[in-house]
Amino acid sequence: MRDTDEPGHKLRKNLSAFDLTVFGVGVIIGTGIFVLTGQQAARNAGPAIVLSFALAGVVCALAALCYAEFASTVPVAGSAYTFSYATLGQFVAWIIGWDLCLELALGAAVVSRGWSAYLQELFDLPSWLAGDKARPDFGAAFIVVALSTVAILGAKLSGRVTGALVIIKVAVVLFVIGLGVFFIKAANYTPFIPPAQPAAKGSGATAPLVQVLAGITPQHFGWFGIVAAASIVFFAYIGFDVVATTAEETHHPHRDVPLGIIGSLVICAVLYMAVAFVVTGMAHYGDLDTAAPLAKAFDLVGQGWAANLISLGAVCGITSVILVLLLGQARVSFAMARDGLLPPVLAKVHPRFGTPWVMSTITGVVVMFLAAFIPLSELSELTSIGTLFAFMVVSIGVVILRRTHPDLPRAFRAPLVPWLPVVSVLASLWLMLNLPVITWVRFVIWMVIGLVLYFAYGMRRANLSAERSDHPPAPGGGSAGTAGKLTA
Ligand code: ALA
Repeated sequence: MRDTDEPGHKLRKNLSAFDLTVFGVGVIIGTGIFVLTGQQAARNAGPAIVLSFALAGVVCALAALCYAEFASTVPVAGSAYTFSYATLGQFVAWIIGWDLCLELALGAAVVSRGWSAYLQELFDLPSWLAGDKARPDFGAAFIVVALSTVAILGAKLSGRVTGALVIIKVAVVLFVIGLGVFFIKAANYTPFIPPAQPAAKGSGATAPLVQVLAGITPQHFGWFGIVAAASIVFFAYIGFDVVATTAEETHHPHRDVPLGIIGSLVICAVLYMAVAFVVTGMAHYGDLDTAAPLAKAFDLVGQGWAANLISLGAVCGITSVILVLLLGQARVSFAMARDGLLPPVLAKVHPRFGTPWVMSTITGVVVMFLAAFIPLSELSELTSIGTLFAFMVVSIGVVILRRTHPDLPRAFRAPLVPWLPVVSVLASLWLMLNLPVITWVRFVIWMVIGLVLYFAYGMRRANLSAERSDHPPAPGGGSAGTAGKLTA
């Protein structure tokens, strides 16, 4: 924490609890609700997709309480990365920092492709220019470059831009609920939980890992389908944890961060369940397997004008998701550079804008290439598994920090520790196990690459910078990273 006060490494403190909630809603509502709701209703859950959203929301709420406690105790940039440095040491911190690239940088790329697809649909652009088939996807590359520039210009400006987009987005979601409710047909809710069906032959790699491990023939629908859909629509909730990465930029992190995290999560959970209920009531779930299911539902009930309005709202709404994910990635890498795990030049703060501009520029370039060239439809699942893994580590960290530093001031204390964090770990693991086998393979490969880099570079450099510092080692075997400052 002392490091964060060094001149040239200090981020401006100008965000309030309200800014944080807007920030949270800005990154949470996006591709998940606009795309995955219909797809998962059609493929895995039927109208019971409402239950999938509820299930994923509960898993997130458990993790949110742990994030809130941590962020109110360790209010420095870097989110789960910083938290794990403070409790589990440098090695786990590196793993989490590396893992968070899946949530933030890859997440931003996934969402920008979705943005580009909606843009193409809205303006009927040529398919070589934007959308799913474009390589490179100029639409996705454009939005990443534009928003990286906004990020470099300052968090307050980003907050204002996000605020405007969030208002439009929430208005569109409320519009879907308010108008859609008049077109609900009770018959569409039967069967509410469609009976289980065996998956097509040869779909082993896309079957949930838990079904393969248990030797069950891969299946869709039924109760397994509800959980499988929950692990995929979980993507729709990703983002509340990103609020914690801005803790260092708030006036009163002890109060503002828990309010921001929990407030934005609750707002989104209520909206998601309402949207899922209305949309599966408007159309038969089997008709919703498209890239723009919310618009399709209105088309099907003869309200084409509403469908266009929703597409426009989706384009605006998805924009703010990309922005917050880019900001989150820059801040996590910034914290890692400040701790010596990445080259120190990356921790430079812009003298005028007060933002980690070097990291934002690098993040922008990498995400632009990912978004332009890599086919990303399945990679949302890789983003989800990476985020769930971070949830597990943060939940474990809460228990460890209570034991190792029981007297540390905690403005927000998660209830029922250690039981709540234990349930949070098991719940996140359960959703991870319900993700496809292929997602697990990709996840393991990514983490192995991270380990190689750590032993080849990060470990040596971080220890060198620790030797140059006067501070004692961090708890849990960490060096003089952020955690070293915390206890110094
Ligand atoms: N929750 C964000 C979305 O659904 C990532 O787009």
